[in-house]
Amino acid sequence: MIDNNNLQQRDNFGSRLGIIAAAAGSAIGLGNIWKFPYITGVYGGAAFILVYLICIALIGFPLMLSEFLVGRKAQKNAVGAFKRLAPGTPWFMTGWMGVVAAFVILSFYSVVAGWCLEYIVKAVTGVFTGSTPEQINAIYEGFTTAAVKPIVWTIIFMGITCWIVMAGIKDGIEKYAKFLMPLLLVIIIILDIRAVTLPGAGSGLAFLFKPDWSKINGEAVLAALGHAFFSLSLGMGTMITYGSYIGKKENLGETAIQVTIADTLIALLAGIAIFPAVFAFGIEPGAGPRLVFVTLPNVFQQMPGGYFFGILFFVLLTVAALTSSISILEVVVAYFSEELKWSRKKATFAAGGAITVMGILCALSYASSSAFSKVKLIQGTVFMDSMMWLSDNLLLPIGGLLVCVFVGWVLGRKKVEEEVNSEGNHLGYMPFFMVAVKFIAPIAIAIVFLKGVGII
Ligand code: TRP
Repeated sequence: MIDNNNLQQRDNFGSRLGIIAAAAGSAIGLGNIWKFPYITGVYGGAAFILVYLICIALIGFPLMLSEFLVGRKAQKNAVGAFKRLAPGTPWFMTGWMGVVAAFVILSFYSVVAGWCLEYIVKAVTGVFTGSTPEQINAIYEGFTTAAVKPIVWTIIFMGITCWIVMAGIKDGIEKYAKFLMPLLLVIIIILDIRAVTLPGAGSGLAFLFKPDWSKINGEAVLAALGHAFFSLSLGMGTMITYGSYIGKKENLGETAIQVTIADTLIALLAGIAIFPAVFAFGIEPGAGPRLVFVTLPNVFQQMPGGYFFGILFFVLLTVAALTSSISILEVVVAYFSEELKWSRKKATFAAGGAITVMGILCALSYASSSAFSKVKLIQGTVFMDSMMWLSDNLLLPIGGLLVCVFVGWVLGRKKVEEEVNSEGNHLGYMPFFMVAVKFIAPIAIAIVFLKGVGII
């Protein structure tokens, strides 16, 4: 009885479009626009994309559906979900790990998002116009290793994130996602049209779509799988939390497919906006994070209309980052407010405040004048890079592995079917789904994990 009352009082997404916008907003982020193109560059283009698509289909998609169904079945945050579905067992620690991962990921994510904000200002004020490639590189180096500015932007970005999350699911997250995601789509299409109509764009498209299998090795496959996790927001309870706000009428299988396709499509569209433009100006596709912050400003300042397209590009990055950061913060806020019974406001302040402090530490670890930049942590890297390593190699793979095992072996087919086939929905590929969560995904993730931490 009490439970039923609780169910009624929980804030939910208000519409199907809102669900897709919010979940796709979480998935589509810096991962798609900042990271996917550059790792595609590192591993040689099209062949890597094909490997990535296979990872998405066999592991990413089943895992997303798993997270959705755990969340919706339990109607709870990432920790509470396991407590309700497996009471009296240590499974809730999977949720805890997700909450920890949210702190870790959002700390560096908010710093990079802060860089995007600074780059909007740089683009608007025309800082890059007439600069040489060396100068543009120096601008990037100077800014990211400065002491004050990156911290200020991190705080501003976290402030905006908290402000949206504080407003709740329907009136905060959903409302902004429904406005920001269409905006993102329009901007990326404009940038794509600009890029492919440049003379010489063809070699960039060939780089993206003509596979060179010689570049594919074990490391590339691991990078593809790791990125599939990050890009689809899996392994830390984001989709469990969002799943808990999805109504029982909705078809979870379809929702997961739509979000997966949207995420993959935007990553490809980002590649199409970037590589043809880069190749058209005969620039080497910068392998590494400099691709968007150094290579692209270079491209924009040579491109007709580049002033305008440059601004659009960094607005795009910021919008993508924002709809993801709110989903990360929501994992912590949902946990604080439901498990610790804090008000949403208090939960947001506490979570947002603590994460901002970690974000400041990340920014400081890059600041050349700070003593903290001399402190080396995991594998000899500074704090910010250690946070990235922790999430990529430890927290997300273990979190994802545990969710698969939980759905495949603990819940089992009958309970899974009950949830995904609710209210007349029907999942036609149940056997594939069960094989994927019971065997394919856990084994693949275990391999990535063991490789990532250097055991194999
Ligand atoms: N998927 C987002 C991106 O591509 C980042 C993100 C949001 C994320 N929520 C997450 C990554 C949860 C891992 C886990 O940028």
